[in-house]
Amino acid sequence: VDRPRVLSGIQPTADSFHLGNYLGALRNWVQLQETHDAYYMVVDLHAITAGHDPAVLRQRTRVSAAQLLALGLDPEQCTLFVQSQVPEHAQLAWVLGCITGFGEASRMTQFKDKSLKQGAERASVGLFTYPILQAADILLYQANLVPVGEDQRQHLELTRDLAQRFASQFGPAFTLPEPYILKGTAKITDLQDPTAKMSKSASTPAGIIELLDPPNVSAKKIRSAVTDTGREIIYAPAEKPGISNLLTIYSALSGRTMEDLVAAYDGKGYGDLKKDLAEVVAEFVAPIQEATRGYLADPAQLDKQLAIGAEKARAVAAQTLRTVYERVGF
Ligand code: ADP
Ligand code: NA
Repeated sequence: VDRPRVLSGIQPTADSFHLGNYLGALRNWVQLQETHDAYYMVVDLHAITAGHDPAVLRQRTRVSAAQLLALGLDPEQCTLFVQSQVPEHAQLAWVLGCITGFGEASRMTQFKDKSLKQGAERASVGLFTYPILQAADILLYQANLVPVGEDQRQHLELTRDLAQRFASQFGPAFTLPEPYILKGTAKITDLQDPTAKMSKSASTPAGIIELLDPPNVSAKKIRSAVTDTGREIIYAPAEKPGISNLLTIYSALSGRTMEDLVAAYDGKGYGDLKKDLAEVVAEFVAPIQEATRGYLADPAQLDKQLAIGAEKARAVAAQTLRTVYERVGF
């Protein structure tokens, strides 16, 4: 049975994934491995575009992989690997870079946003060519589907353009990937600024619930979450973004419907909701934290798992690169 191939990656740029990552992406990864031929990677090559500490990166790559396993990614059911362990990513990125226009790359809005933060002069060429590496990540595996959020749409368009351009110049080598709109994902907002998304790069620590936060820490963050001055516990994202965000997290983690929750909290206060949500979060993360600790306690075994994943990934990547090199004239 040929299941559609899906590919996704996540950066090892934090000590823990947060609830936004989980409810917006990773929860779906776990589900997709059952119905799709899923390739998931920790994209460490992408994590060095803005300066980094080598020891921290190495540790975060391991912690990221351990969390993915703890969340339920099963190496028997999907291919889980670390990007830098498959050298074909960088090799294909070079070839694709040579058929990408400078102007075309300059139009990528995410570079514009991120380089503004770093300062246009200081932004690295790696940050500039990041979307080309992303195109290589996708095309190497002949992925049919790529889960993308709004912020990544433009990069997938570039990927498709490059695949088609390569085919017209040198002959077919790639599957044309389609965007895959994830069902049942939720956008989680910053606890301190409920109109902004919860984000490891933009939020303050108090605005983010990390999967690896100890229960007293997440409880404190939830207690201090910004809410409006009203009293009613209803789901109304525009008028009550803070309360609605807490309800979204509650519903997603407990499996209770929004209607059920709103009915259950009728006549109760924000404090009751926050106290109960803290318990729901603590209960949800406890087994994930324990499993993560378990994977991290045996680094040799974890590295072995990742090496097996990289070998599986490489078998596919190497085949694509052979075709590409051959077509290009190497
Ligand atoms: P961050 O914004 O924290 O830097 P990333 O950009 O690395 O996170 O996102 C990794 C994945 O998690 C992406 O698929 C992204 O869409 C998803 N994600 C990140 N933050 C949120 C959020 N607040 N709500 C829903 N999904 C999110
Ligand atoms: Na991202």
